[in-house]
Amino acid sequence: MRAVVCNELGPPSNLAVEERPDLAPGAGEVVIDVEAAGVNFVDGLFVAGEYQLKPPLPFVPGNEIAGTISAVGDGARGYSVGDRVLASVGLGGFASAVVARPNALAHVPDQMSSAAAAAFTQSYCTVAFALGRRANLVAGETMLVLGAAGGVGTAAIQYGKAIGATVIAAASSDERLERCTAAGADVTINYSHEDLKTAAREASGGGVDVVFDPVGHDLTEPALRAMGEFGRLCIIGFARGDIPKLPTNQVLLRNRSVVGVDWGAWGMAHPREQRVLLADTLAMVETGRLSPPEPTSYPLDRVADALSDLLEHRLVGKAVLVP
Ligand SMILES: NC(=O)c1ccc[n+]([C@@H]2O[C@H](COP(=O)([O-])OP(=O)(O)OC[C@H]3O[C@@H](n4cnc5c(N)ncnc54)[C@H](OP(=O)(O)O)[C@@H]3O)[C@@H](O)[C@H]2O)c1
Repeated sequence: MRAVVCNELGPPSNLAVEERPDLAPGAGEVVIDVEAAGVNFVDGLFVAGEYQLKPPLPFVPGNEIAGTISAVGDGARGYSVGDRVLASVGLGGFASAVVARPNALAHVPDQMSSAAAAAFTQSYCTVAFALGRRANLVAGETMLVLGAAGGVGTAAIQYGKAIGATVIAAASSDERLERCTAAGADVTINYSHEDLKTAAREASGGGVDVVFDPVGHDLTEPALRAMGEFGRLCIIGFARGDIPKLPTNQVLLRNRSVVGVDWGAWGMAHPREQRVLLADTLAMVETGRLSPPEPTSYPLDRVADALSDLLEHRLVGKAVLVP
């Protein structure tokens, strides 16, 4: 088998693709032939040594994969050779095969490609957790999505439309906004040249109910100011790099709330609830309420390009490695 190996912490260019012995399942494990591995911001943090968890060197990065089960160990129940599955494996996903335990797996709906499945869990579960359990977005409300052409942003557009909200998508270019319209956004705002607060207030008829913010920096405050009475600002991430400071008088006014969203920590602390969340979100794919877009594919050998394109703002949407 082939695997991307981090022998030395640093930039993605440090990564090497190496031959490794083939895998065999231990008791309670399955082996999955990886058809695609999702590339996420956190993979870059692991490789740079900037994540809170620091695995010993050398390690194989990559958490999210999708593929086909090729071997089943004794006592691994619920899955058979030939099943198409997606899995969150922690580390080891940037490889042509991985070992996983059944509780890390889910069956892939027939209509979903392996590439889309490998890019699914982090984006769509974050959104389902943020909007379904933290901000409680409901039908008839209006949501403003920042960085809306990105991985979690596109998922937020689709989830918002699926539950009956009006979705205002905001992004930095017209090309990115075209993808937001294709994903179902009702209104678009180009915050490179439009005033975000004014445009969002106008588009919502006075103030948005929910803001979904994975970008941060100088966008968070105007988005907070664009919220109406009982507005909820979901803090998802800081893709522009800087963590903004907010004027708390703007939270007091109109009885607004700022809502923290840490899906990863919640999922680790509540694994059963996370499995239910994943199953519910995959069911929305099976019934056609969510249609995850096809990510950009890179061959395994181009892992450094995939990670650099993601970290340096050249990628639009999600990326996967194809072994
Ligand atoms: N809280 C959680 O549980 C959770 C879960 C998943 C992800 N996250 C975080 O959410 C953030 C977004 O994730 P994602 O998968 O949507 O990432 P992404 O697709 O790479 O980025 C989202 C958007 O942010 C803007 N952006 C990205 N990189 C940038 C850069 N270097 N400089 C300026 N703008 C940049 C882009 O929007 P525009 O160009 O249109 O502005 C992009 O479409 C990340 O920080 C990630 O770690 C958090």
